[in-house]
Amino acid sequence: MPLPKAELHLHIEGTLEPELAFELAARNGVTLPYATTDELRKAYDFEDLQSFLNLYYELMAVLRTEQDFADLANAYLARAAAQGVRHAEIFFDPQAHLSRGVSMGTVVEGLWRALGSWGSPRASEAERGGERNHGISTRLILCFLRDESAESALETLEAAKPYLDRITGVGLDSAEVGHPPVKFREVYEAAAALGLRRVAHAGEEGPPAYITEALDVLGVERVDHGLRCMEDPALVERLVRERIPLTLCPLSNVRLRTVDTLADHPLPAMLDAGLMCTVNSDDPAYFGGYAGDNFTAVQQTLGLPEDRLRELARNSFLASFLEDDEERRAR
Ligand code: ADE
Ligand code: ZN
Repeated sequence: MPLPKAELHLHIEGTLEPELAFELAARNGVTLPYATTDELRKAYDFEDLQSFLNLYYELMAVLRTEQDFADLANAYLARAAAQGVRHAEIFFDPQAHLSRGVSMGTVVEGLWRALGSWGSPRASEAERGGERNHGISTRLILCFLRDESAESALETLEAAKPYLDRITGVGLDSAEVGHPPVKFREVYEAAAALGLRRVAHAGEEGPPAYITEALDVLGVERVDHGLRCMEDPALVERLVRERIPLTLCPLSNVRLRTVDTLADHPLPAMLDAGLMCTVNSDDPAYFGGYAGDNFTAVQQTLGLPEDRLRELARNSFLASFLEDDEERRAR
């Protein structure tokens, strides 16, 4: 039995496996610049975040209809459930779809078709716990692309307004360096005023100062990645004191060369420092593993003992946006 866990850092577009990419391409008449799934997999050799993002955005061309988004999310839920995931807070990147003429409604309704509202306070009894959503409770987090303009982020939030009953929070992702959190102050203020929860990627490739800015300017409750906090002892002390959760993604860090090898990953030092760490998969189709695979990898390569693994699993529920009673049920 895999350890029950929550996944808090997962880009649904990053769960697009090569087989599904080709299936959707055929269904939608999209020609991919790869002849076979093997050829596509060979392109998964990344130098940094940007080289990954180039392929990530390119492959999104196959996602066109509500059913495509539903199929994508269903495939993720099946894999995640098999690895012990009981709750998933799922990022999606609407700007990457709106720019291709795919509407916010297509994306949100499609994802919702698969995710349903299992465990959501808004769910009817009939909607809860259905086989079709694999017994995983979910939340949706709309991410703004930080390499797009602040105006575009505001327009995206506006486009999401008819769907806010299905969206729990906002996040910030894509190319980090040169796009500091402060650029998105206004849209985060607007999101907070709408009652949305706030998270942001910070300190993946960007400097520790971006983590501080995400906390102070954007008011984030969790930091996605946050790896580079280890370069700033005063920041580490603050994150520990304020119990700010970090959603780490070890296999992603290796594939995007944020760390040299998994053996060099600072997770053990971060736990020893008292940081509230969680382990997640980021873009599992591209980085070689889902949530359970990330747990297994850190157990085997970093030699994390059982109690540390249990701490990581417990943190994942504590750091989630589940209500207290839901959290107990999910565990
Ligand atoms: N979008 C998808 N995966 C990402 C990551 N690891 N960092 C920033 N943006 C992303
Ligand atoms: Zn991410």
